[in-house]
Amino acid sequence: MQKITLTKPDDWHVHFRDNLYLALTVPHSAAQFGRAIAMPNLVPPVTTVGQAQDYLVRLREHSPAGFTPLMTLYLTDNTTPADIEAAANSDFVHGCKLYPAGATTNSDNGVTDISKLSATLAAMEEHGILLLVHGEVTHSDVDVFDREARFIETTLEPLVKQFPRLKVVLEHITTKDAVDFVQQGPATLAATITPHHLWLNRNDLLVGGIKPHHYCLPIVKRHSHQQALIKAATSGNPTFFLGTDSAPHTRANKENACGCAGIYSAHAAIELYAEVFEHAGALDKLEAFASHHGADFYGLPRNTATITLAKQPWTVPEVYTYGNEVLVPFMAGQNLQWKIINE
Ligand code: NCD
Ligand code: ZN
Repeated sequence: MQKITLTKPDDWHVHFRDNLYLALTVPHSAAQFGRAIAMPNLVPPVTTVGQAQDYLVRLREHSPAGFTPLMTLYLTDNTTPADIEAAANSDFVHGCKLYPAGATTNSDNGVTDISKLSATLAAMEEHGILLLVHGEVTHSDVDVFDREARFIETTLEPLVKQFPRLKVVLEHITTKDAVDFVQQGPATLAATITPHHLWLNRNDLLVGGIKPHHYCLPIVKRHSHQQALIKAATSGNPTFFLGTDSAPHTRANKENACGCAGIYSAHAAIELYAEVFEHAGALDKLEAFASHHGADFYGLPRNTATITLAKQPWTVPEVYTYGNEVLVPFMAGQNLQWKIINE
């Protein structure tokens, strides 16, 4: 049987949600990853170090040995330099998340005008707190497929110039525009790439009927963009690294006339990436993408433990129990080729 052993990977962008839901989401991530950046878009959002600490305690209750959640704060119009200083003085907050207000799930309290946050961003730059960006504009006159490219032009490019020492992660990139911008950008700029944006293009969302379980934000784009993402992820370029954006929603909230955005991939994340890398003839680049580049960019040590994947086809369950309901995972009922094995 074909096998590969990797340094234990990390997930640099995941939604665990809270309370009852953690019983599913945290063990799934912990079975694959050493660390994971916990997104702060709870209801209400995690905006202070105190709230992040309380959330960390709840995450730890479900975390086995060998798994460390890394915390983030949700930036609002009211986040102050003092909040950033408190984050820097903690040993568990690693970044702040910028959601343009209204861009995605639970982003109502997001930032309405980034130019008003200059003092806060300057404090982040000074204290070495990373800025994690949901890179989409939200104006109703901008087509949903153009929102990432427009954000890069109008917001990200000036931001990176204004704060040349601020480390910025453009999260879950979906376009060739993003790949090109990040590749040509300064060393302080990096990007995460999700498994589903490597697996899917907009035909998979829309042809033959709407597939609500393929709906996420930023929305999946055309085939040429998918190809650019695959090329970037498998290139070995340290600017690109793993972030699943695994975003669970109940089946009822997805299979709905106004379905929620988000794809759940934590059950099979590294296996999903492995299959893409294998198709691209780049399995030898998987470890760097999944286990090295992110830690290096965040300035954290690489993990010392390892995981082993075997070429051992398995069928993804149709549903998982999620709190008192169920969720439909990515690739439900379908076969994946690689499986983590315990050696
Ligand atoms: C995320 C969620 O459900 O919290 N949804 C998504 O489609 N990615 C929010 C986000 O990361 O945009
Ligand atoms: Zn996300």
